[in-house]
Amino acid sequence: MLKPVYLTEDDAVAIIDQRRLPLEVVWLKLRAVSEVAEAIKTLAVRGAPAIGIAAAYGVYIAVKDFTEGYDAFYERFRKAKKLLASTRPTAVNLFWALDRMERVLKENPLLPVHKLVKKLRAEAVKIQEEDLESCIRMGELGAELLPDGARVLTHCNAGALATGGYGTALGVVRKGYEKGRVELVWVDETRPLLQGARLTAWEMEYEGIPYKVVTDNMAGFLMSKGMVDVVIVGADRIAANGDTANKIGTYSLAVLARHHRIPFIVAAPVSTFDLSLSRGADIPIEERNELEVLEFRGVRVTPKGAKAYNPAFDVTPSELISFIVTEKGVIEPPFSKNIEALLRNEDKV
Ligand code: MRU
Repeated sequence: MLKPVYLTEDDAVAIIDQRRLPLEVVWLKLRAVSEVAEAIKTLAVRGAPAIGIAAAYGVYIAVKDFTEGYDAFYERFRKAKKLLASTRPTAVNLFWALDRMERVLKENPLLPVHKLVKKLRAEAVKIQEEDLESCIRMGELGAELLPDGARVLTHCNAGALATGGYGTALGVVRKGYEKGRVELVWVDETRPLLQGARLTAWEMEYEGIPYKVVTDNMAGFLMSKGMVDVVIVGADRIAANGDTANKIGTYSLAVLARHHRIPFIVAAPVSTFDLSLSRGADIPIEERNELEVLEFRGVRVTPKGAKAYNPAFDVTPSELISFIVTEKGVIEPPFSKNIEALLRNEDKV
């Protein structure tokens, strides 16, 4: 099972450098929290669940060798948490994982520091293990929604590379293929950084799942010709009403899917929900460097002096979503009511 991030025996954060895929497969060993923060910012590690996992390991390595008093230890933890939380604003899994790590400290105020360090390590590893289990479960639940011989269109990369392993949207594709239900995957290129063409295609090759890469502007044509049976995407943050932030371009696909009466499925773990936000309009959208649009893999493709706008995510209104697949179950409309019911249930577990 491909894991894009893991903690080594000697406590380095190992990541596969996703900036260099698919041309080179390079593993990096990060030993400082600043390196982990930089890796998240520059998308060496990316995808909502994966950045949460990397951040949990990052905050652990920031404090693991600290032996001075509790207050200084906590202060160092807070600084590391702040640094990691400043890397990317949209995927809520990042903040969720960091808060979960801080809870370990809050719940054990009387433990000596060396024991807290051990607990933090265990918690970070657990966050990754749980994510992997969630992805496998989502795969099983989501595969049941696929028609036989499905031609699935997906956007960006919501695969093993974006998670603790296995993937959310691609977990559904993997399981669906295993069950003989997936005939073809349309892989949206995903401009400007090509997470589809570079990463999803690489995962499909690795798994031997039949796929074709298409540029983002081809989806409408494919749908109009009856060549897409279902759209499946991941998510970076889901508001209480089901509005879903995901990679820029997802919203356009949802509008197209509705027009062509094609089911539009979001697959995301419970850690991607942000019930503090009642609607998607309140989700902070990351704006990235304009050079990502003005250049193509480092080569200028626009006139000198050209300016660009580069929002990294958009929000799909919940009325365009057919199902949200989570590890706790498949949520159907009406989303506000059903999300609350599922997550309230989750709190009780
Ligand atoms: O900017 P990225 O590559 O981190 O964006 C990733 C996405 O938008 C994914 O679709 C999302 O994080 C879901 S990953 C399981």
